[in-house]
Order: sequence, then C-alpha cells, then structure tokens
Amino acid sequence: MIVTGCPPRVVTFWYRCVAMSETSPGSARSPRLPPVRVLHVGGTGLLSSACADAGIRAGHEVWLLNRGRTRNVPVPDGVHRLVADARSPAAVAAAVTGTTFDVVVQWIGFTPDQVRADLDLFAGVGQYVFVSSASVYRKPPAHYLVRESSTPLENPFWQYARDKIACELLLSEAHRRTGFPVTVVRPSLTYGPSQIPVCVGSWERPWTIVDRMRRGAEVIVPGDGTSLWTVTHADDLATGLVGLLGNPRAIGEAVHITSDEVLTWNDIYREVGRAAGVEPRLLHVPTDALVAADPELEGTLLGDKVHSTVFDNSRLRDLVPGFTATVPFTEGIRSTIAWFEADVTRRLVDREADALWDRIAEVYTTALARVVPPPIER
Ligand SMILES: NC(=O)c1ccc[n+]([C@@H]2O[C@H](COP(=O)([O-])OP(=O)(O)OC[C@H]3O[C@@H](n4cnc5c(N)ncnc54)[C@H](OP(=O)(O)O)[C@@H]3O)[C@@H](O)[C@H]2O)c1
Repeated sequence: MIVTGCPPRVVTFWYRCVAMSETSPGSARSPRLPPVRVLHVGGTGLLSSACADAGIRAGHEVWLLNRGRTRNVPVPDGVHRLVADARSPAAVAAAVTGTTFDVVVQWIGFTPDQVRADLDLFAGVGQYVFVSSASVYRKPPAHYLVRESSTPLENPFWQYARDKIACELLLSEAHRRTGFPVTVVRPSLTYGPSQIPVCVGSWERPWTIVDRMRRGAEVIVPGDGTSLWTVTHADDLATGLVGLLGNPRAIGEAVHITSDEVLTWNDIYREVGRAAGVEPRLLHVPTDALVAADPELEGTLLGDKVHSTVFDNSRLRDLVPGFTATVPFTEGIRSTIAWFEADVTRRLVDREADALWDRIAEVYTTALARVVPPPIER
C-alpha cells in the first residue's frame, strides 16, 4: 500500500477509512466502511445503474455525471446529477467545480486518451475506480482458472481489450509514480434487466435471440457449446463493487468481480430458451467459420467467449469479506425476460444480425448435409 507521496486529501481519506474500519468489530478482515461521496462517470448504464442503486442502499452519497441522454433507466431517489460530456475534460471540470468526491468510478474509459485527463481532474480524490474488463486476461488462456496474480494481461484478438490494458497500465504507472489512488475492477460478461447474455447475439437489440428461438429458427453456438463460461448479474457485480468503495485495502489493487456459477454455453442458451418458454434449436458452428463470415466476431469470440473461463474470486473476497454472488442464472434470466415482456418497445429485433445468422445457418447446414456419408447399400 502506497501512502508516502500521496496528495494530502488521499492520505486523509485513507486514514479516515482505516480509523473507522478498525473501530468496528472484526476489524481488519471485516471492516465496516464509512459512507463516501461517490461520483459515477456514466451511472445510467446497465452496470453503473445497478451500482448507483446499491450505493444508495449502502448509505453512500451518490452522484452521476453523464450527458443526460439515457432516459430509460430509473435513477433512484437521493441521487445527485451532473450533466457533461465526459469526452470534454473542460466540461467535466466545470461540472464538478465546487464539489469534492471521496471516490470517482470511471465507467466509460475505453482508451488511454479518454482516461489521461482524469489524472489531473481527479488528482485530489481518495479513490479512483477504473472499470476495465476481464477480457484483458491472456487469450488463449494458459490455464482455465483466472487469478489476478498469475494471469498475464494480453489479448492479440481484441482491440477493446488491448485498449483497456493500456488504460490499466497508464493508471498503475500513475499509482507507482505519484500515489494516484487507483482500484481496477474487471467485470466479465455481466447482464441485467435489459441485457440477454449469449455468445453470438445482438448487444444493441438483445431480444433478437429470443425472437429467433420463438420462431423456431436455429441459434448459433460456437464450437460444440461445451466450453465453460461465467455470466454475472449486475446486482452481484454491484455488491462487489460497492464493497470496494472507500476501502483503503483496495487502493493499488486490480480485481475481477464475477459469479462463481460455472455454465457451458449450451446451458446458457437452453436456460434463455426455458425462461422464454421454448426449447431452442442450437446450431453448433466452428468459431473459425463464424469469424470468416463476420470478421467483427473475432474479438468477442477468439478474444473472449469461446475459451473456457472460470474466475477465482478469492482476491475480491479478501477485500470484501463475505462477498457471494446470489443471483443464479436460472433466476436472473427469468427476470430479464420478464423485463422485455413487460413492454413491446423493448422487444426490438436486429434485422442485420438476423440475416447474417440465417445465412451462416443455411451455408453450414448445407455443407454438413454434403459431408454426411450416403447410406450403405446392403
Ligand atoms: N456489460 C459487460 O458485460 C461488461 C463486461 C466487462 C466490462 N464492462 C465495462 O463496463 C462499462 C460499461 O458500463 P455500463 O454498462 O454501466 O455502461 P453503458 O451501458 O455503456 O452506459 C453508458 C453510461 O455512460 C453515459 N455516457 C455515455 N457516453 C457518455 C459521454 N460521452 N459523456 C458522459 N456520459 C456518457 C451514459 O449516459 P448518457 O447517454 O446520458 O450520457 C450512461 O450513463 C464499460 O467500461 C465496459 O467496458 C462491461
């Protein structure tokens, strides 16, 4: 833990948190952390809105900074709003002038250029949480079990992951040089009311997969669907992330936050189908063929989802004692489907993705029929 060389406000924050946590029962391993004033840059997104909600419930003073364009996500009572375009450091500086924050959570930093200005803008905060991604871990993996301490950061398949790695390196260098109080959080595939987590789906129009299932159209599963995968509900991510806020032991740390439930992709698709009231027709297609059909799939498949990935969450549990993900996929996906069912305007279909999947299914099933040996004549 670096305290020497930190800006005075960081040191004050650190000692305040340690002093309050050490007076609570169980002390070092189960600290009762004081409430903090936290600014979420973002805050009305799928993940960040769950964290804003959980922050309010935990007694924190929660502020959101965004452009005010995303209006379909309810903001809990008591949340303070700031409006600015995060891509303009001057606009952010103007919006936050006059307010000091104990913690800033950066949800929408994707490249070092977008994050660099935060080193000055938020130089005085007690903790800066950077939301990265578990896609930063080495692909293909050398070991199925991902641990922060032993899994290198390297992803030759996905620019998004390489950019997140570059952001992490910039921030950890600032931590080493000046004591910038960064905590890196790495979610893996995380869903919530408005997102259906599948391997080949439409992120913008998630209902597309259910629409296909209900029409009896094949849904595409890469490989043979037996690789292991982890999906996490946004409420569980929020429990872990809120446990890190104002947590002095989390400063200088990088930690993933996931469920401990391990499923195969076949399980995940079938569970989505069950929640939607259908038995889905799965079409297993080699990943190479999918990437050849749509090169944009390379990052999300070869750079992430087709590799068996199971997370060891012991570092999180060390920092947030008692953390357990409590939303099993069977339960979470039912409430997600119910959210879509509640309003027809949510059930949009991505016609372009649909047409691509139809084309792949047609080519692949035709090719498969051609390699089936003719019946042996007796
Ligand atoms: N979901 C996953 O499975 C997953 C996995 C790994 C990592 N992550 C990481 O999680 C983060 C995304 O979190 P999320 O799901 O909560 O976000 P999101 O759904 O992408 O929402 C974006 C939020 O940021 C605001 N915003 C967007 N552009 C802005 C701008 N230029 N200036 C100010 N505000 C802006 C939006 O509000 P306005 O539109 O009103 O501005 C909204 O509040 C990303 O860093 C992503 O890499 C997600």
